[in-house]
Amino acid sequence: MRKINEIEYQECITSAPSSTANLGPGYDVFGLGLDALEDIVTLKVIKKSGSNLNSIKIKTKGEGSKSIPIDPELNSSGKVAKKIIADYNLHKYECIIDIEKNIPPGYGMGSSAASAVATAVAFNKIFKLDIQDTKLLNYAAEGELASAGVKHYDNIAGSFFGDFVIVRSTPGLEFIKIKSPKDLTLVVCVPLIDVPKMKTEFARSILPKEVPLKKMVQNLSNACTIVAGFFNKDIQMICNGIDDCIIEPVRQKLIPGYEQVKERSLQAGALAFAISGAGPATIAFSNSKNKGLQISEVMKDTYEKLDIECKTFICNPSRGAKIISTK
Ligand code: HSE
Repeated sequence: MRKINEIEYQECITSAPSSTANLGPGYDVFGLGLDALEDIVTLKVIKKSGSNLNSIKIKTKGEGSKSIPIDPELNSSGKVAKKIIADYNLHKYECIIDIEKNIPPGYGMGSSAASAVATAVAFNKIFKLDIQDTKLLNYAAEGELASAGVKHYDNIAGSFFGDFVIVRSTPGLEFIKIKSPKDLTLVVCVPLIDVPKMKTEFARSILPKEVPLKKMVQNLSNACTIVAGFFNKDIQMICNGIDDCIIEPVRQKLIPGYEQVKERSLQAGALAFAISGAGPATIAFSNSKNKGLQISEVMKDTYEKLDIECKTFICNPSRGAKIISTK
Protein backbone atom coordinates (compact mmCIF):
# COMPACT_ATOMS: atom_id res chain seq x y z
CA MET A 1 0.00 0.00 0.00
CA ARG A 2 1.29 3.46 -0.92
CA LYS A 3 2.49 5.36 2.10
CA ILE A 4 1.18 8.82 2.91
CA ASN A 5 4.64 10.39 2.59
CA GLU A 6 5.04 9.19 -0.97
CA ILE A 7 2.50 11.65 -2.34
CA GLU A 8 4.05 14.41 -4.44
CA TYR A 9 0.82 15.71 -5.95
CA GLN A 10 -2.70 14.34 -5.97
CA GLU A 11 -6.15 15.63 -6.42
CA CYS A 12 -9.57 14.25 -5.66
CA ILE A 13 -12.97 15.61 -6.64
CA THR A 14 -15.94 14.76 -4.44
CA SER A 15 -19.54 15.87 -4.17
CA ALA A 16 -22.10 15.93 -1.39
CA PRO A 17 -25.79 16.81 -1.66
CA SER A 18 -27.97 19.30 0.15
CA SER A 19 -30.03 17.98 3.03
CA THR A 20 -32.85 18.79 5.38
CA ALA A 21 -32.70 18.15 9.10
CA ASN A 22 -35.18 17.49 11.91
CA LEU A 23 -38.24 16.66 9.73
CA GLY A 24 -40.36 18.25 12.43
CA PRO A 25 -39.95 16.34 15.70
CA GLY A 26 -36.52 14.81 15.02
CA TYR A 27 -34.34 17.71 16.20
CA ASP A 28 -30.67 16.74 15.75
CA VAL A 29 -31.79 13.15 15.09
CA PHE A 30 -33.27 12.99 11.56
CA GLY A 31 -31.43 13.89 8.38
CA LEU A 32 -32.58 13.48 4.80
CA GLY A 33 -30.33 13.97 1.78
CA LEU A 34 -31.96 16.09 -0.94
CA ASP A 35 -31.06 16.01 -4.61
CA ALA A 36 -31.84 19.74 -4.99
CA LEU A 37 -28.23 20.95 -5.02
CA GLU A 38 -24.73 19.65 -4.35
CA ASP A 39 -21.37 21.07 -3.37
CA ILE A 40 -18.31 19.89 -5.25
CA VAL A 41 -14.92 19.89 -3.57
CA THR A 42 -11.59 19.51 -5.34
CA LEU A 43 -8.84 18.72 -2.89
CA LYS A 44 -5.30 19.21 -4.18
CA VAL A 45 -2.47 17.91 -2.07
CA ILE A 46 1.10 18.99 -2.75
CA LYS A 47 4.18 17.92 -0.84
CA LYS A 48 5.75 21.05 0.61
CA SER A 49 9.25 21.83 -0.56
CA GLY A 50 10.32 24.21 2.21
CA SER A 51 9.00 24.97 5.64
CA ASN A 52 5.90 26.74 4.42
CA LEU A 53 3.66 26.78 7.47
CA ASN A 54 0.47 27.50 5.63
CA SER A 55 -1.04 24.05 5.14
CA ILE A 56 -4.58 24.87 4.04
CA LYS A 57 -5.76 27.19 1.32
CA ILE A 58 -9.44 27.55 0.53
CA LYS A 59 -10.86 28.83 -2.71
CA THR A 60 -14.55 29.14 -3.43
CA LYS A 61 -16.66 29.64 -6.51
CA GLY A 62 -20.32 29.15 -7.39
CA GLU A 63 -23.60 30.74 -6.38
CA GLY A 64 -23.15 30.21 -2.68
CA SER A 65 -19.56 31.35 -2.47
CA LYS A 66 -20.04 35.06 -1.80
CA SER A 67 -20.60 34.91 1.94
CA ILE A 68 -18.29 31.99 2.64
CA PRO A 69 -15.22 32.78 4.75
CA ILE A 70 -11.99 31.39 3.30
CA ASP A 71 -10.13 31.46 6.59
CA PRO A 72 -9.77 27.73 7.46
CA GLU A 73 -10.69 28.54 11.07
CA LEU A 74 -14.07 29.87 9.98
CA ASN A 75 -14.82 27.67 7.00
CA SER A 76 -16.57 24.33 7.44
CA SER A 77 -14.20 22.52 5.04
CA GLY A 78 -11.25 24.24 6.67
CA LYS A 79 -12.26 23.01 10.10
CA VAL A 80 -12.53 19.43 8.86
CA ALA A 81 -9.17 19.68 7.09
CA LYS A 82 -7.44 21.14 10.13
CA LYS A 83 -8.62 18.33 12.38
CA ILE A 84 -7.68 15.54 9.95
CA ILE A 85 -4.27 17.11 9.24
CA ALA A 86 -3.58 17.36 12.96
CA ASP A 87 -4.79 13.85 13.84
CA TYR A 88 -2.96 12.14 10.96
CA ASN A 89 0.10 14.36 11.07
CA LEU A 90 -0.21 15.56 7.49
CA HIS A 91 1.59 18.84 8.11
CA LYS A 92 4.14 18.31 5.36
CA TYR A 93 1.45 18.78 2.72
CA GLU A 94 -0.11 21.87 1.34
CA CYS A 95 -3.83 21.23 0.90
CA ILE A 96 -5.77 23.37 -1.50
CA ILE A 97 -9.52 23.01 -1.08
CA ASP A 98 -11.43 24.32 -4.05
CA ILE A 99 -15.13 24.49 -3.19
CA GLU A 100 -17.80 24.81 -5.84
CA LYS A 101 -20.39 26.15 -3.45
CA ASN A 102 -23.70 25.41 -5.11
CA ILE A 103 -25.67 25.24 -1.87
CA PRO A 104 -25.90 28.81 -0.59
CA PRO A 105 -25.20 29.12 3.14
CA GLY A 106 -27.95 30.37 5.40
CA TYR A 107 -30.80 28.62 3.56
CA GLY A 108 -31.39 25.69 5.90
CA MET A 109 -30.38 23.12 3.28
CA GLY A 110 -27.23 21.74 4.89
CA SER A 111 -24.72 23.93 3.09
CA SER A 112 -21.94 23.70 5.65
CA ALA A 113 -22.55 19.97 6.07
CA ALA A 114 -22.20 19.27 2.35
CA SER A 115 -18.83 21.01 2.03
CA ALA A 116 -17.63 19.38 5.23
CA VAL A 117 -18.70 15.91 4.10
CA ALA A 118 -17.17 16.30 0.64
CA THR A 119 -13.91 17.48 2.24
CA ALA A 120 -13.74 14.60 4.71
CA VAL A 121 -14.41 12.09 1.92
CA ALA A 122 -11.67 13.66 -0.25
CA PHE A 123 -9.06 13.54 2.55
CA ASN A 124 -9.94 9.95 3.33
CA LYS A 125 -9.51 8.99 -0.30
CA ILE A 126 -6.34 10.93 -1.17
CA PHE A 127 -4.36 9.88 1.90
CA LYS A 128 -5.86 6.37 1.98
CA LEU A 129 -6.70 6.93 5.63
CA ASP A 130 -9.29 4.19 5.66
CA ILE A 131 -11.43 6.08 8.15
CA GLN A 132 -14.67 4.19 8.77
CA ASP A 133 -18.02 5.94 8.24
CA THR A 134 -18.82 6.83 11.84
CA LYS A 135 -15.39 8.30 12.50
CA LEU A 136 -15.42 10.08 9.15
CA LEU A 137 -18.74 11.69 10.01
CA ASN A 138 -17.28 12.78 13.30
CA TYR A 139 -14.60 14.62 11.31
CA ALA A 140 -17.20 16.06 8.95
CA ALA A 141 -19.18 17.32 11.95
CA GLU A 142 -16.19 19.53 12.83
CA GLY A 143 -17.47 21.66 9.97
CA GLU A 144 -20.72 22.35 11.80
CA LEU A 145 -18.76 24.20 14.45
CA ALA A 146 -18.29 26.92 11.85
CA SER A 147 -22.01 27.62 11.52
CA ALA A 148 -23.75 26.07 14.50
CA GLY A 149 -21.08 26.42 17.17
CA VAL A 150 -21.65 22.77 18.11
CA LYS A 151 -21.32 19.46 16.33
CA HIS A 152 -24.67 18.16 15.15
CA TYR A 153 -24.86 15.20 12.82
CA ASP A 154 -28.26 15.26 11.13
CA ASN A 155 -27.35 17.24 7.99
CA ILE A 156 -23.94 15.58 7.84
CA ALA A 157 -25.55 12.13 7.94
CA GLY A 158 -28.16 12.95 5.27
CA SER A 159 -25.51 14.41 3.02
CA PHE A 160 -23.01 11.57 3.48
CA PHE A 161 -25.33 8.58 3.25
CA GLY A 162 -28.16 10.13 1.26
CA ASP A 163 -31.75 9.17 1.99
CA PHE A 164 -33.15 9.11 5.51
CA VAL A 165 -30.78 8.71 8.43
CA ILE A 166 -31.39 8.46 12.17
CA VAL A 167 -28.57 9.80 14.31
CA ARG A 168 -28.04 8.12 17.64
CA SER A 169 -25.47 10.16 19.50
CA THR A 170 -25.39 8.87 23.07
CA PRO A 171 -23.69 6.90 24.49
CA GLY A 172 -21.87 6.33 21.18
CA LEU A 173 -22.36 7.69 17.71
CA GLU A 174 -24.45 5.48 15.43
CA PHE A 175 -26.20 6.10 12.12
CA ILE A 176 -29.23 4.12 11.03
CA LYS A 177 -30.16 4.45 7.36
CA ILE A 178 -33.56 3.74 5.90
CA LYS A 179 -34.38 3.97 2.21
CA SER A 180 -37.08 6.44 1.27
CA PRO A 181 -40.29 5.56 -0.54
CA LYS A 182 -39.77 6.04 -4.26
CA ASP A 183 -42.32 8.80 -4.77
CA LEU A 184 -41.46 10.93 -1.77
CA THR A 185 -41.28 14.48 -3.13
CA LEU A 186 -40.09 17.47 -1.20
CA VAL A 187 -40.66 21.12 -1.94
CA VAL A 188 -38.18 23.40 -0.23
CA CYS A 189 -39.01 27.10 -0.11
CA VAL A 190 -36.32 29.59 0.88
CA PRO A 191 -37.32 33.18 1.62
CA LEU A 192 -34.34 35.29 0.58
CA ILE A 193 -33.98 37.27 3.77
CA ASP A 194 -30.96 38.42 5.73
CA VAL A 195 -30.05 35.86 8.36
CA PRO A 196 -27.63 36.26 11.28
CA LYS A 197 -24.01 35.36 10.50
CA MET A 198 -24.02 32.27 12.72
CA LYS A 199 -27.63 31.57 11.78
CA THR A 200 -27.83 28.02 13.09
CA GLU A 201 -26.10 28.90 16.34
CA PHE A 202 -28.59 31.72 16.83
CA ALA A 203 -31.58 29.53 15.95
CA ARG A 204 -30.36 27.00 18.53
CA SER A 205 -29.77 29.60 21.20
CA ILE A 206 -33.45 30.59 21.35
CA LEU A 207 -34.72 27.05 21.97
CA PRO A 208 -36.04 25.98 25.37
CA LYS A 209 -33.47 24.21 27.52
CA GLU A 210 -36.11 22.07 29.17
CA VAL A 211 -39.23 20.48 27.71
CA PRO A 212 -42.46 19.49 29.51
CA LEU A 213 -42.98 15.74 29.62
CA LYS A 214 -46.25 16.02 27.70
CA LYS A 215 -44.55 17.71 24.76
CA MET A 216 -41.72 15.22 24.86
CA VAL A 217 -44.24 12.38 24.56
CA GLN A 218 -46.02 14.10 21.67
CA ASN A 219 -42.82 14.67 19.71
CA LEU A 220 -41.51 11.20 20.49
CA SER A 221 -44.68 9.54 19.20
CA ASN A 222 -44.50 11.63 16.04
CA ALA A 223 -40.81 10.83 15.53
CA CYS A 224 -41.54 7.11 15.91
CA THR A 225 -44.33 7.43 13.35
CA ILE A 226 -41.88 8.98 10.87
CA VAL A 227 -39.43 6.13 11.37
CA ALA A 228 -42.19 3.56 10.94
CA GLY A 229 -43.29 5.39 7.79
CA PHE A 230 -39.82 5.22 6.24
CA PHE A 231 -39.47 1.63 7.29
CA ASN A 232 -42.83 0.73 5.71
CA LYS A 233 -42.23 2.97 2.67
CA ASP A 234 -45.50 4.67 3.55
CA ILE A 235 -45.44 8.36 2.63
CA GLN A 236 -48.72 9.12 4.40
CA MET A 237 -47.40 7.56 7.62
CA ILE A 238 -44.16 9.58 7.40
CA CYS A 239 -46.19 12.72 6.93
CA ASN A 240 -48.54 11.93 9.81
CA GLY A 241 -45.53 12.17 12.10
CA ILE A 242 -44.21 15.48 10.79
CA ASP A 243 -45.59 17.66 13.53
CA ASP A 244 -43.38 19.33 16.08
CA CYS A 245 -44.69 21.02 19.22
CA ILE A 246 -41.31 21.99 20.67
CA ILE A 247 -39.01 23.66 18.13
CA GLU A 248 -41.43 24.94 15.47
CA PRO A 249 -43.41 27.30 17.72
CA VAL A 250 -40.18 29.06 18.70
CA ARG A 251 -38.34 29.12 15.38
CA GLN A 252 -41.28 29.96 13.16
CA LYS A 253 -41.05 33.49 14.50
CA LEU A 254 -37.76 33.86 12.64
CA ILE A 255 -39.41 32.98 9.32
CA PRO A 256 -41.50 35.67 7.66
CA GLY A 257 -44.84 34.39 6.39
CA TYR A 258 -44.42 31.03 8.07
CA GLU A 259 -48.05 30.54 9.02
CA GLN A 260 -49.35 31.64 5.64
CA VAL A 261 -46.96 29.50 3.64
CA LYS A 262 -47.71 26.49 5.84
CA GLU A 263 -51.46 26.91 5.64
CA ARG A 264 -51.49 27.45 1.88
CA SER A 265 -49.09 24.56 1.19
CA LEU A 266 -51.31 22.20 3.16
CA GLN A 267 -54.39 23.52 1.35
CA ALA A 268 -52.58 22.92 -1.95
CA GLY A 269 -52.16 19.25 -1.06
CA ALA A 270 -48.93 19.05 0.94
CA LEU A 271 -49.14 16.03 3.25
CA ALA A 272 -46.90 17.65 5.83
CA PHE A 273 -44.94 20.82 6.40
CA ALA A 274 -41.93 21.71 8.55
CA ILE A 275 -39.02 24.07 9.01
CA SER A 276 -36.03 22.74 7.08
CA GLY A 277 -33.24 22.42 9.65
CA ALA A 278 -32.77 25.75 11.38
CA GLY A 279 -34.63 27.60 8.59
CA PRO A 280 -35.45 29.97 7.10
CA ALA A 281 -36.26 27.36 4.46
CA THR A 282 -39.47 25.47 4.93
CA ILE A 283 -40.21 22.06 3.48
CA ALA A 284 -43.45 20.58 2.23
CA PHE A 285 -43.88 16.84 1.77
CA SER A 286 -45.78 15.25 -1.07
CA ASN A 287 -46.14 11.99 -2.96
CA SER A 288 -45.88 13.23 -6.52
CA LYS A 289 -43.93 15.66 -8.67
CA ASN A 290 -47.15 17.16 -10.02
CA LYS A 291 -48.45 18.02 -6.59
CA GLY A 292 -44.98 19.28 -5.76
CA LEU A 293 -45.25 21.70 -8.66
CA GLN A 294 -48.60 23.00 -7.43
CA ILE A 295 -47.28 23.43 -3.90
CA SER A 296 -44.23 25.26 -5.21
CA GLU A 297 -46.44 27.71 -7.12
CA VAL A 298 -48.52 28.38 -4.02
CA MET A 299 -45.39 28.96 -1.92
CA LYS A 300 -44.04 31.42 -4.48
CA ASP A 301 -47.38 33.21 -4.67
CA THR A 302 -47.53 33.51 -0.87
CA TYR A 303 -44.13 35.16 -0.71
CA GLU A 304 -44.86 37.35 -3.71
CA LYS A 305 -47.90 38.69 -1.86
CA LEU A 306 -45.68 39.38 1.13
CA ASP A 307 -43.23 41.15 -1.16
CA ILE A 308 -40.44 38.78 -0.21
CA GLU A 309 -38.27 37.10 -2.82
CA CYS A 310 -38.05 33.35 -2.50
CA LYS A 311 -36.61 30.30 -4.21
CA THR A 312 -38.21 26.90 -4.38
CA PHE A 313 -36.73 23.48 -5.10
CA ILE A 314 -38.81 20.46 -5.99
CA CYS A 315 -36.66 17.50 -5.14
CA ASN A 316 -36.37 13.91 -3.99
CA PRO A 317 -34.27 12.14 -1.40
CA SER A 318 -30.74 12.01 -2.79
CA ARG A 319 -27.96 9.51 -3.02
CA GLY A 320 -25.06 10.22 -0.70
CA ALA A 321 -21.62 11.78 -1.14
CA LYS A 322 -19.57 10.62 -4.13
CA ILE A 323 -15.97 10.45 -5.21
CA ILE A 324 -16.08 11.88 -8.72
CA SER A 325 -12.43 11.39 -9.69
CA THR A 326 -8.89 11.13 -8.41
CA LYS A 327 -5.61 11.76 -10.19
N1 HSE B 1 -30.65 20.04 13.96
C1 HSE B 1 -30.06 21.29 13.53
C2 HSE B 1 -30.87 22.41 14.14
C3 HSE B 1 -30.09 21.37 12.05
O1 HSE B 1 -32.09 22.36 14.02
O2 HSE B 1 -30.29 23.33 14.70
C4 HSE B 1 -29.50 22.63 11.50
O3 HSE B 1 -29.53 22.57 10.09
